[in-house]
Amino acid sequence: MNITFRQLQIFESVAQHLSYTRASESLHLTQPAVSMQIKQLEQSVGLPLFEQLGKKVFLTDAGQEFRGYARAINRQLDELEQVVDEMKGLRRGRLTIAVATTANYFAPRLLATFCQQHGEVAVSLDVTNREQLLKGLVENRTDLVIMGQPPAEMALVAERFLDNPLVVVAAPQHPLAACRQIPLERLLQETFLVREQGSGTRSAVERFFAANQLSLSTPMEMSSNEAIKQGVEAELGLGIVSLHTLEMELALQRLVILDVVNFPIMRYWYIVHRGGKRLSLVAQAFHRFVRVESAQSLKPARGQA
Ligand code: PGA
Repeated sequence: MNITFRQLQIFESVAQHLSYTRASESLHLTQPAVSMQIKQLEQSVGLPLFEQLGKKVFLTDAGQEFRGYARAINRQLDELEQVVDEMKGLRRGRLTIAVATTANYFAPRLLATFCQQHGEVAVSLDVTNREQLLKGLVENRTDLVIMGQPPAEMALVAERFLDNPLVVVAAPQHPLAACRQIPLERLLQETFLVREQGSGTRSAVERFFAANQLSLSTPMEMSSNEAIKQGVEAELGLGIVSLHTLEMELALQRLVILDVVNFPIMRYWYIVHRGGKRLSLVAQAFHRFVRVESAQSLKPARGQA
């Protein structure tokens, strides 16, 4: 059967009005156009769907049967149209975002507020390190990314929206915990727990020490902020992590921030997408939300000690 959706709509209207004239008026078509479509439909079906007795139009048995299916299909089409409209209009859109491991300490709170404001937005959140985020952007796998400053040579649109201070942390009983204005050189005597290669925090720390003509000797590599914090608490060494990661440890006094000259290392959070990418309405709304509202609601856990 070679039936068009338009024919189903016309059929339903004629079946409802039992009049070609009234159906053509309600569809804003000419009466011959309506008759022609019904004729073609009947040819495709291979059975008459209407019969005309005098001036009156009746549904045949086949027409009665056909009407149930036509109705169901037309309602499904209406529903589909509504869903598409809603997606265009934000109510049921899909948002695919990826955030740096470190940004995951605040991103879920941002998303929660955004979702409260935007009802049925379906969110997919990927948490990974900087290297993987950049790969995801190149491969166009995400709408938006929250990360440290992306490399200038990539064709990306990046907007800064939040501070990201990196601080030196120690166990509270560490001898340096009581010191003030600790010189950078003094840190070289300490063991440091650092993030894995590919981490934005790691590369910022390396750049910072290189810019000061220093380098950390034999740091211990850990693949997550959590592992670093646990290691520092266990007195394996010192760590350099984002202030965003420390809310709980500072509140519970499990870790302290050391007062080191030239610290914190000031980094920033950016919301990033591929240049030229057409953002969906939901993605545009999230982008705007992050730029306008996040700085208010997400202050770093606590100022440096
Ligand atoms: P990271 O990213 O979690 O990969 O360290 C944070 C950043 O880019 O500062």
